[in-house]
Amino acid sequence: MSVPEFQTSPGMRDILPPESARWRRFVDVFGRVVESAGYGQVMSPLLEDLGVFQRIGDATDVVTKEMYDFVDKGGRHIALRPELTASICRAFVQHRPLTPWKIWYTGSMFRYEKPQRGRYRQFDQVGIEVLGADDPNLDVEVIALGWEFYRALGLAQVSLLLNSLGEPADRARYVQALQDHFEANLDALSPESRVTLQKNPLRVLDSKRPHDAELVAAAPRIAEFYSDVAAAHFEGVQAGLTAIGVPFTLEPTLVRGLDYYRHTTFEFQGGTLDSAQNALGGGGRYDGLVESLGGPPTAGVGFAMGLDRTLLACDDEGVFGAPDTAVDVFVVDTTGGAEALVLTSQLRAAGISSDRGYENRSMKSQMKGADRSGATFAVIVGSNELESGTVVVRPLRAAEASQAAIPRTDLIDHLKKALS
Ligand code: HAM
Repeated sequence: MSVPEFQTSPGMRDILPPESARWRRFVDVFGRVVESAGYGQVMSPLLEDLGVFQRIGDATDVVTKEMYDFVDKGGRHIALRPELTASICRAFVQHRPLTPWKIWYTGSMFRYEKPQRGRYRQFDQVGIEVLGADDPNLDVEVIALGWEFYRALGLAQVSLLLNSLGEPADRARYVQALQDHFEANLDALSPESRVTLQKNPLRVLDSKRPHDAELVAAAPRIAEFYSDVAAAHFEGVQAGLTAIGVPFTLEPTLVRGLDYYRHTTFEFQGGTLDSAQNALGGGGRYDGLVESLGGPPTAGVGFAMGLDRTLLACDDEGVFGAPDTAVDVFVVDTTGGAEALVLTSQLRAAGISSDRGYENRSMKSQMKGADRSGATFAVIVGSNELESGTVVVRPLRAAEASQAAIPRTDLIDHLKKALS
């Protein structure tokens, strides 16, 4: 087969059936889990003013290097969303809903990253955010819902890493201490991490380079810088998770890639993917973000998880496969196709899913189509059946069951009983 002239751009994918049905079910299950805790769905635009995302922070690759931004025909500088937390905060400022505002979302995000397995330029997330309540119990609720969702998918090898970045002043003192530590040992730092150090000393802790491992391990720990308020909040989160049986590992180097976090940060890691792509989801508190978008001081906490990546983890663990989307009935009509048109329409109206053969193909060819469709029954109409007002119902999945000719008027009742 020759290579087609047009293909998806790098890092972008077509999701075809039956995989697309699996994606939809993923979102359905997520919606069920979080709606049972009082979260409502927000659907917001794919595009925002560039400034909305710039508030995420100018030391974030997502903002400085990976944004799909352009000037539109009206001269506005806009960007395809790289994440949804900033958009949700913008929506909060715009609509001023009652608090706590508990919302969930799903949709595509865009980041100009180097594509590889589990890392794409267009990828989907599901997530939740809660705005307007500063209570460690909420951090616990948010994390627990993520945990419960992974359980609902059947994933067993997910672990939860937990950290707190403290209050902004704690964080600032910590960043200074890190800067001092790494600058005092600059020769021992990889060239890449030296560049990172200039922009954001916290991100040096993220370095997975073996060269940096020793210096990162010897770096000061954030816990030494917590104020009483930050320490109490973090203790509350840990006590809450323990009380409801969500296992976690404290990870003092977990800073995450976005700049808006303060207090709690967390990440869900899969057990089967490469370490660069094993973050299935993550989140934390971002109490200053609404204010930076022009709103009142407002607490915020949430997470997002990657659909693409979580489904790869499901593949690796052999759980949450594509659902069975086969129709109940396949209508084979060898009399020209008009009977199939009427029968499928009647069956669908009665709630029985049905497909059919087209182009007046031979019986053999239509029966092949019936087999391929995965239908439970073929309903066959030939000229004899047409004359006698009957149809033949042939079971396709149960080898021992035999076919039966029944009056057409009884078909729907007959199938309903047989399918129940
Ligand atoms: P994030 O860690 O940037 O956080 O993304 C969350 C998840 O999205 C990741 O754990 C990963 O599964 C998926 N993801 C990110 N980039 C890619 C990519 N290029 N290809 C495939 N999957 C990807 C956020 O986006 C924050 N908004 C989370 C949050 C919500 N924090 C507070 N509230």
